[in-house]
Amino acid sequence: MSSRYIKIFDTTLRDGEQAPGASMNRGEKLEVAHQLTRLGVDIIEAGFPISSAEDFESVKEIAREVKGARIAGLARAIEKDVRVCWDAVKPAERARIHTFISTSPIHMKYQIKKTPDEVRKITREMVSLARDLAATHADADVEFSAMDASRSEPEFLAEIFAIAIECGATTINVPDTVGYALPLEWGDFIHEQYRLCPALEDVTVSVHCHNDLGLATANSLAAVRAGATQVECAVNGIGERAGNAALEEVVMAIRTRGDVFGVGTGVHTEEIARTSRLVSTLTGYTIQRNKAIVGRNAFAHESGIHQAGLLTRAETFEIMKPGDVGLAESDLVLGKHSGRHALRAQLAELGYQLSDTELDEAFHRFKSIADKKKTVTVLDLEALVSEEIRERQDHFTLQSFVTQAGSAIIPTSQVDVDVRGRRKRGRSFSNGAVESIFKAIDNAVGMKGSLADYQVRSVTAGKDALAEVRVAVEVGGRSFNGQAVSYDVMEASAKAYVRALNNAAAAGEA
Ligand code: KIV
Ligand code: ZN
Repeated sequence: MSSRYIKIFDTTLRDGEQAPGASMNRGEKLEVAHQLTRLGVDIIEAGFPISSAEDFESVKEIAREVKGARIAGLARAIEKDVRVCWDAVKPAERARIHTFISTSPIHMKYQIKKTPDEVRKITREMVSLARDLAATHADADVEFSAMDASRSEPEFLAEIFAIAIECGATTINVPDTVGYALPLEWGDFIHEQYRLCPALEDVTVSVHCHNDLGLATANSLAAVRAGATQVECAVNGIGERAGNAALEEVVMAIRTRGDVFGVGTGVHTEEIARTSRLVSTLTGYTIQRNKAIVGRNAFAHESGIHQAGLLTRAETFEIMKPGDVGLAESDLVLGKHSGRHALRAQLAELGYQLSDTELDEAFHRFKSIADKKKTVTVLDLEALVSEEIRERQDHFTLQSFVTQAGSAIIPTSQVDVDVRGRRKRGRSFSNGAVESIFKAIDNAVGMKGSLADYQVRSVTAGKDALAEVRVAVEVGGRSFNGQAVSYDVMEASAKAYVRALNNAAAAGEA
């Protein structure tokens, strides 16, 4: 039985979304938030409401619609930020204002240009304001973060924490903002804060570790050993620069090595693989094959010695089972004779509640795939349905395309695209088939994207597998990701490109 409960604070939709090109639209963020509650995280940091009108609306929508987890919004320790954040999170059953200010000498001097005395005063005033706003709600609380805590003077940091607690913060977050800490010293650092600021014993102590030295998970675990009871992390470890601590790694380390930690989380680990795939699909961030817990190879055993051992007894080389993280379910589910009821039931099992119109569309796509592919697996269904959901908010939709290519002709493409309700045609030729279709789309949409990355993979094994294409497209100096799945690689390429342009349009680039 676990003695201490570790809260999982998921920041995929805030710090994770700050990763270049990872931006998601509102529908996508809502979908991720729903999946995060299925996963069982305690707190969802839904966004940074002051950063844009779109982010504000997205946090508000999640606060209104998503039940089960506490919904947090981020706010600098500035009155306008705190008030806007509160307006966004207050519809939640359980809400949180997460406010922060820098406390390291270098950040105080060069980033926020404030003296230590000013930081003391601002902390007092802004945490008090957040507390007063939260007090008007049945269940709202305040988290305070000291940005760049790992490079702050320990005594000053402890003093700031004491002020924040006195003014009403009930969660104190200690970020390693620049990923500078090492596990041994980070554990000691947290211990030292408990000693210097005894009031920390009465609140939740949290850590937020970045992965610049590849140590975010190790540092988070060291902090748990030193007494922290909240870990901030992101699915697949996405986030600023090298990212945040990966949720799946922190949770599975705590679970697998319960003998050492003696703590537990509320995460339903069998939802990990699906959450990971969803976030990867929607952000366009591919998961490296050998990524711990969720990489394609994480449970693959290549060497003969390992395979022989596994056949005799799984524990010889396996410290976790694929089923523990939800990886055992990707087998046959439906075939071409399956009907709408079977599809609806299977989708409900996967957590998708589709309206009748959405089900009609999904069924239509399912049939067209099932006609070409012997079996349709969970992975295929997920890929198809999550695409259906995303197409609802699009500015542009690919209607049809024709591409002619071959070793003896100049590749030529023609596309018809629905551009905000009007059908537009684009044509182009080029040196390569994919290039010609992307240029034809640019012509139809009236935008010019420049391709920064292009990747193709199969969703499952087999020559009849669905193709997944991911692109990174630069528009107006910013990078936007796009992803799509189709039986046909050219169609998947065209749709992925259109998706990236949609993301650019949603961000105001068209
Ligand atoms: O890395 C960081 O310090 C942050 C804070 C806003 C918590 O993301
Ligand atoms: Zn961060």
